Amino acid sequence: MASSTVALPTTPPRKLQGKVAMITGGASGIGERTVRLFVEHGARVVVADIQDEAGARVCADVGAGAASYFHCDVTSEDDVAAAVDHAVATFGALDIMFNNAGVSGPACYSVRDSGKADFERVLAVNLVGPFLGTKHAARVMVPARRGGCIIGTSSVAAAVTGASSYAYACAKRALVALTENAAAELGRHGIRVNCVSPAGVATPLTMRYMGLEAEAFEQAMEAISNLKGVGALRADDVAAAVLFLASDDARYISGHNLFVDGGISIANPSFGTSKD
Ligand SMILES: NC(=O)c1ccc[n+]([C@@H]2O[C@H](COP(=O)([O-])OP(=O)(O)OC[C@H]3O[C@@H](n4cnc5c(N)ncnc54)[C@H](O)[C@@H]3O)[C@@H](O)[C@H]2O)c1
Repeated sequence: MASSTVALPTTPPRKLQGKVAMITGGASGIGERTVRLFVEHGARVVVADIQDEAGARVCADVGAGAASYFHCDVTSEDDVAAAVDHAVATFGALDIMFNNAGVSGPACYSVRDSGKADFERVLAVNLVGPFLGTKHAARVMVPARRGGCIIGTSSVAAAVTGASSYAYACAKRALVALTENAAAELGRHGIRVNCVSPAGVATPLTMRYMGLEAEAFEQAMEAISNLKGVGALRADDVAAAVLFLASDDARYISGHNLFVDGGISIANPSFGTSKD
């Protein structure tokens, strides 16, 4: 019998080939890693941020033609609408919207000491921003009739209280409601809407919040993590979860909040069930 050889693929599949994405907060941290991963997987990406130099640098790094920087303050409806229109004008469509830009606000855990202006600012960026991103993504996705995918960055702070400010916890939990509402409405147009809820990742946002450098931050996170032996959670881990949700691997997943937290949000260490 003649032997036959099976040709193995030499390069991993490109999961977003031909797709156009917009990533808010794409100049730094989780957003930046997602920009890079999306481009590796064949997407063309609009990086929407207020850090113009950093955003332009990320775009230059991933290569001309693959990414385009657009100054966009996500609290401004005009900015968000213009960034979405820029994606369509530059790359011909919008298939994936990643509403990721966020701020921590001050590290204040007391309702008595929490300021109204700080509370409103965190809600403006972390909740109104994703609302506007969802609204304007849907504005172009629905008439384009090519489906689409909208993803937000929530947080374990949406599920586990006490680890963040009132404003941050409220914004991130409301983002889950925004996700579910939009998934229910937009499903009939073939548009999937999901969010990710990461635990602590060393990024400028969290290092500033905790007043720690990256190494010290990661050590602190590893010490309290539920999942041991795998090192600290990294922005790349979150980007991989976002890629999964954005790709056809998740073609039937909508209205889901994907925790990227090693199980910390469902584990109660005070039970101490295993001492192995
Ligand atoms: N790092 C973590 O541990 C962690 C955990 C859970 C959720 N998150 C969320 O992940 C998202 C990304 O944060 P990160 O940790 O990568 O921090 P980061 O500071 O590295 O990135 C946040 C980005 O958002 C941008 N941004 C802030 N305000 C903006 C505005 N008004 N308009 C447009 N862009 C704006 C910043 O310029 C920055 O580039 C945030 O929504 C954050 O709340 C982070």
